[in-house]
Amino acid sequence: MPDNRPIICPDNDSLIKQALQRFVTHYTQALNDHGLFHVALSGGSTPESLYRALVTHVSAQAIAWNKVHIWFGDERMVAPDHRDSNYRMSRHALLDHIAIPRSNIHPIPTDCDDFTNCAKRYADTLDSLLPLTKDAVPVFDLVLLGIGPDGHTASLFPDTDILMEYELPVAAVYVKEKDSWRISLTYPVLNHARQLLVLVSGAGKRQVIHDLFSDNATGNHYPVANIRPSGQMEWLIDSEAAQGL
Ligand code: 6PG
Repeated sequence: MPDNRPIICPDNDSLIKQALQRFVTHYTQALNDHGLFHVALSGGSTPESLYRALVTHVSAQAIAWNKVHIWFGDERMVAPDHRDSNYRMSRHALLDHIAIPRSNIHPIPTDCDDFTNCAKRYADTLDSLLPLTKDAVPVFDLVLLGIGPDGHTASLFPDTDILMEYELPVAAVYVKEKDSWRISLTYPVLNHARQLLVLVSGAGKRQVIHDLFSDNATGNHYPVANIRPSGQMEWLIDSEAAQGL
């Protein structure tokens, strides 16, 4: 279960403004620490609003995008220009509108017949560019996450094999209810991120948030509840999703 209390924002706009501030803070900390900022983007409509704000908001103008490496927490196994692609969404919302070298953008490959090969390729790229723990786990400066009404995060969905993956940093997963394959970062990588920032908005998340944070919390079965962060994990939740807490 999440240890720290969520930060409840009056509306989605204030949630995005808070997320923006945290993004810039973690960027600054990472640059001071090791000269680069490795951040994994999430799919979903809530994180997408943050990406749009990063293009236009004055507080993001201080970001030197040539010092930022953009990664992805998960990807749907579709072509990079498919409407379901997280990479396509992030290009439209952010990447096509900032001065970031193309070599700093690392989409999850989706062009493999055997999806585990794409997962392995991504893991190799992570290993080659990110700092590693003594156990060779890639360390992100920041991982952005959303959650679904079923408590999934990234593509760690309930009742899927990937929830038992504690060796590989990246794995392919078949999501039955979506009838689709995905590739996702696994718990070891999420657990070793320096910062995790979970963005939750809308009435559709009310039940899962209640189950996770109410006094008689019952949400420990949710995949997101089984992240054991060694770094900081913050939750930004709008009042719509937090109603009843
Ligand atoms: C994905 C995301 C997923 C998303 C949640 C929340 O690829 O779908 O990685 O984990 O963050 O489903 O999405 P919303 O913010 O749109 O509800």
